[in-house]
Amino acid sequence: MGHIARIEKALLAALASSSAPDGPPRLAAACRHAVFPGGARIRPQLCLAVAMACGDSDPVLTDAAAVAIELLHCASLVHDDLPCFDNADLRRGQPTVHRAFDERLAVLSGDALIVLAFQWVAAAPAAHPSRLAGLIGTIARGVAAPHGIVAGQSWECEPKVRLSDYQRAKTGVLFAAATAAGAQSAGADPLPWLALGDRLGEAYQIADDIRDVVADPQMLGKPVGQDAALGRPSAACELGLSGAFEQFERFVAQASAAVPDCAGAKALRQLVKQESERLVPRAWSRDLSRNRVPEVCRAKNSLATPARAKAQQSAANGVAH
Ligand code: IPE
Ligand code: IPE
Ligand code: MG
Ligand code: MG
Repeated sequence: MGHIARIEKALLAALASSSAPDGPPRLAAACRHAVFPGGARIRPQLCLAVAMACGDSDPVLTDAAAVAIELLHCASLVHDDLPCFDNADLRRGQPTVHRAFDERLAVLSGDALIVLAFQWVAAAPAAHPSRLAGLIGTIARGVAAPHGIVAGQSWECEPKVRLSDYQRAKTGVLFAAATAAGAQSAGADPLPWLALGDRLGEAYQIADDIRDVVADPQMLGKPVGQDAALGRPSAACELGLSGAFEQFERFVAQASAAVPDCAGAKALRQLVKQESERLVPRAWSRDLSRNRVPEVCRAKNSLATPARAKAQQSAANGVAH
């Protein structure tokens, strides 16, 4: 079975476990809507690829870890699309959960997926249950305060943030959790695998910033121009398009170089290369070769979200928060 088929099968099993004939049917439908159809499934693919490189000695545990990482990612997207964050109508080519259902079900389905992620790993019939505690800690760090996704999204509520802190917390830390969890589920030391996830995650967020300016919303399946419109820190706005692209290429090269020596190293480097080409297609090279700060970025910060504007105002008034 290929990696994607393995991931989809495991996700279906996890989702099935969280619904019941006597449970609220719209909650179950909202959870399914958040997870299927998937996007690139890059985080669980990375988790599986690292586990394979480390011998994949407990495939049940590997699958559970990959599922948990993807469920946490899907939940983060549901919450990120809400009106109080990015107020997006489209995700993966279909209406966002709060549009297809309503805001309450978007909050609740995100919550349900977060809880399910941990339930699923904790209850996995692992061949090596002694690996569970460390694995759960690793996965939790990818989303927890002070450095995981929750922190990344919270930086949007602060008056000042460094681009690299924001991007690492918003995206890089879950990628690092994916590589570390892959190693841990196979019984290997996670530490040598953190750099690969960290570098690839940062590259991924820079590509997302470039795509927000250059890509076609039909091709992305989500709105574009959001970063500038919402006053979000963005590599494309801060570095210009060619500066962002250079940074992207630097992080991709660092990710490739960070793959530890092992039997699966070649396959992992191939995955990194394939992803980098998918993220930033060659057809964009004309746009990316001119170091212009995109026109849309000029509005940056003047069109801040209410939360950001409030944080900026409070900071200006010397109010702690
Ligand atoms: C989108 O992630 C949000 C970011 C952190 C960049 P993906 O681009 O991996 O989204 P899907 O899962 O493929 O839809
Ligand atoms: C979302 O970042 C990252 C999360 C942790 C949810 P963005 O807001 O840039 O991602 P998209 O563009 O909506 O996918
Ligand atoms: Mg966002
Ligand atoms: Mg968003």
